[in-house]
Amino acid sequence: MEQTKFLLAESELPRRWYNIAADMPSPPQPVLHPGTGQPVGPDDLSPLFPMALIGQEVSEEAEIAIPEEVLDIYSLWRPTPLYRARRLEQEVGTRSRIFYKYEGVSPAGSHKPNTAVAQAYYNQKEGRTRLSTETGAGQWGSALALACKLFGLECKVYMVKISYEQKPFRRSLIQAWGATIVASPSEETQSGRAVLEEHPDSPGSLGIAISEAVEDAAGRDDTAYSLGSVLNHVLLHQTVIGQEALAQMELAGAFPDVVIGCVGGGSNFAGLSFPFLREKIGGREIDVLACEPAACPTLTRGLFAYDFGDTGKLTPLVPMHTLGHDFIPAPIHAGGLRYHGVAPLISQLVRDGLMRAEAYLQNDVFASAVLFAGSEGIIPAPEAAHAIHGALETAKAADEAGEERTILFNLSGHGHFDMAAYDNYFAGKLEDVALDEEEMQRALHAIEGLPTPA
Ligand SMILES: Cc1ncc(COP(=O)(O)O)c(C=O)c1O
Repeated sequence: MEQTKFLLAESELPRRWYNIAADMPSPPQPVLHPGTGQPVGPDDLSPLFPMALIGQEVSEEAEIAIPEEVLDIYSLWRPTPLYRARRLEQEVGTRSRIFYKYEGVSPAGSHKPNTAVAQAYYNQKEGRTRLSTETGAGQWGSALALACKLFGLECKVYMVKISYEQKPFRRSLIQAWGATIVASPSEETQSGRAVLEEHPDSPGSLGIAISEAVEDAAGRDDTAYSLGSVLNHVLLHQTVIGQEALAQMELAGAFPDVVIGCVGGGSNFAGLSFPFLREKIGGREIDVLACEPAACPTLTRGLFAYDFGDTGKLTPLVPMHTLGHDFIPAPIHAGGLRYHGVAPLISQLVRDGLMRAEAYLQNDVFASAVLFAGSEGIIPAPEAAHAIHGALETAKAADEAGEERTILFNLSGHGHFDMAAYDNYFAGKLEDVALDEEEMQRALHAIEGLPTPA
């Protein structure tokens, strides 16, 4: 019998995170203070983040030790399994080999606890007792609620209203881990009230929820802000995924030609791909593919520009591919991919030609998700299904070219709390929305007058 799962022992858990900033051909451009136009310093960030995370945000060290307390909690579910998708390969009749790393085995059901645990740890160590955050579909909010519970911190979650209404069980999960949750836009912050005044029926967006969570943290000494993606330190914490996958591919006697992940803010994709990019920068040939929704095509159609990370313009200016900070993506079912920007590290790597991106329509993505579930058994999160679709498209293109590829993708989470989305797909109710050019141009007006990156 040929092997299906490639497993590492707990003792093989990576002991260091990998910081790609140390190896990038073009260093990332600085984050700017919107008032002065100057790079932000630690003093600007210290009301929101603990010093250890600010240090990681700007670190030039290639490796950063993972604290024992964090490793101890990682060991609840890490190392995660790597699978050879033999049944899927047979189902589609490809000559390529398809592997996937499965992050859905964490207690919250996705990769998000990899950074939530680290962030809660550093905050507790530096004396914060409460964290505030935003969540889209609820994956991040539930991961941070869990991490706060484990470190004895209070947690306040601003959840995008449309998901708050559509996904009551993620809400319950967040509550089960002891966090307080409110639908965003809410009446509890100035940013939320401003949106409600103009749009009483606003479905919310990640950009709005971030404004609320940042405002909450900035207004209280006991509270820090915690972000589930985009920032350098968040991507750093996720690199345990790719380091494990490198070792597991070796166990499988294989090395990927193509590494694939879905991209919202970019953290799971970075987590899998950065350790492989280290090899690519070192001279190995690997194609690294980011998969995003056509309704929110940040990397494939957005501008590389300085923009705010949130709608209320409370964050610093970030150099990234963006659709404009007041862009509200269509309510597609991959809630975690509905963000107007993307991680600056990923933007820079795409600009430098080390990674590339494709955008897909949601009915195609769900068709691939159902195909995957029918052969591999796992019901994927709609976000992760973008990576499955990317892997299947890659295999198809290789077959058509008479080639054989080794493909590795990240299955960033399971979809057990997303069955309403599957219901809609089965009922033929999912709309295929590709972002309209006119709407994109309108939204991009929001960044006019902001500084231009080099
Ligand atoms: C399962 C899953 N995958 C992917 C994402 C996208 O986030 P990121 O691009 O930071 O990995 C999310 C976000 O909520 C998610 O829940």
